[in-house]
Amino acid sequence: MKGISSLESWKIGLLFSVTGVTSIIERSQLNGALLAIDQINAKGGVLGRPLEPVRYDPASVVKRYGELAEKLIVEDKISVIFGCYMSSSRKEVLPVVERRNALFFYPTLYEGFEYSPNVIYGGACPNQNSVPLANFLMNTYGKRVFFVGSDYIYPRESNRVMRNVLRQGGGEVTGEVYFDLEAEAADFSVVVDEIMKVKPDAIFSTVVGQACIEFYKAYHLAGGDGRKCPIASLTTNEGEIDAIGPEASAGHITAAPYFRSVNSPANRRFLKAYEEKFGSTVDVTSCCEATYSQVHMFALALEETGEIDTECLREALLGASFDAPQGQIKIDPDNNHTYLQSRIAKVDNNGEFVIEAKVRRAIT
Ligand code: ACM
Repeated sequence: MKGISSLESWKIGLLFSVTGVTSIIERSQLNGALLAIDQINAKGGVLGRPLEPVRYDPASVVKRYGELAEKLIVEDKISVIFGCYMSSSRKEVLPVVERRNALFFYPTLYEGFEYSPNVIYGGACPNQNSVPLANFLMNTYGKRVFFVGSDYIYPRESNRVMRNVLRQGGGEVTGEVYFDLEAEAADFSVVVDEIMKVKPDAIFSTVVGQACIEFYKAYHLAGGDGRKCPIASLTTNEGEIDAIGPEASAGHITAAPYFRSVNSPANRRFLKAYEEKFGSTVDVTSCCEATYSQVHMFALALEETGEIDTECLREALLGASFDAPQGQIKIDPDNNHTYLQSRIAKVDNNGEFVIEAKVRRAIT
């Protein structure tokens, strides 16, 4: 019998940045994919053939994602790609995969209101994260919320949804400010002064990447205390909290389908395997878990179809479920999005997320 490495591999493309402003989170997504690939190959691959990742680093430069997707499809002859964190980068990949009829797995929360037959959406949308977070903030801290975001499509669109949800609950937006993706700590000092003056009940942050770390630190430096007026976010994950440090992150809130602290056998197995491969679990995030789960779901679909064909794989994926580290997830056959768990967690004094609330049923 042939070993699996001597058989022709199934090539898949990975487009996650390991350099640049969103590399903390995208590295965790890449690791999630690599772990799943290792696990699948250790069990003999798919139908006896190993998965072989072909990866490029777009360096967090939005235009590069589209160019590299084209390269993967045209030069490397790969028609299944996993990638992207920022919505702006997804928007670059979208026309490429549609034109070439490739299948693109997007394992990141986003602003919603999009559908492409060529995309499988694996992250949360506003109804899965913004709505429960807005209600939690209003019930726990109060109704006056200040918005701070990075300046691109995801923050602006998700703030539009958040504003509507807050208004419906009698809430008020007390400020709305956007920053360049490259913003540094000093750039945030003016808005932090403004927040101290306005005294909102909570801050809703859609600042992403390295700038997110700078913003939390600037808030802490100015005397901001998450235990009194938290920064609430959908994008501040374990990796960013680790970089911010426990003192400046205590009390802050994140809504996501998955946290490293989820207490379940599936998550313990996932974390153990991650630690064995990468030496530590400090950077495991909801986007890492989503990538890991999407690679496994793709492999199960490929097992069924026996060929990398966009139509056949989509058919197999729509309606498929998976016992993910976060709990059971399922791809909605009507819109290619994923039914996910919905959790809200607060950072404790040791820099760990403690889950405060869970919406019981997976929602889409
Ligand atoms: C995002 O840009 N979808 C986080």
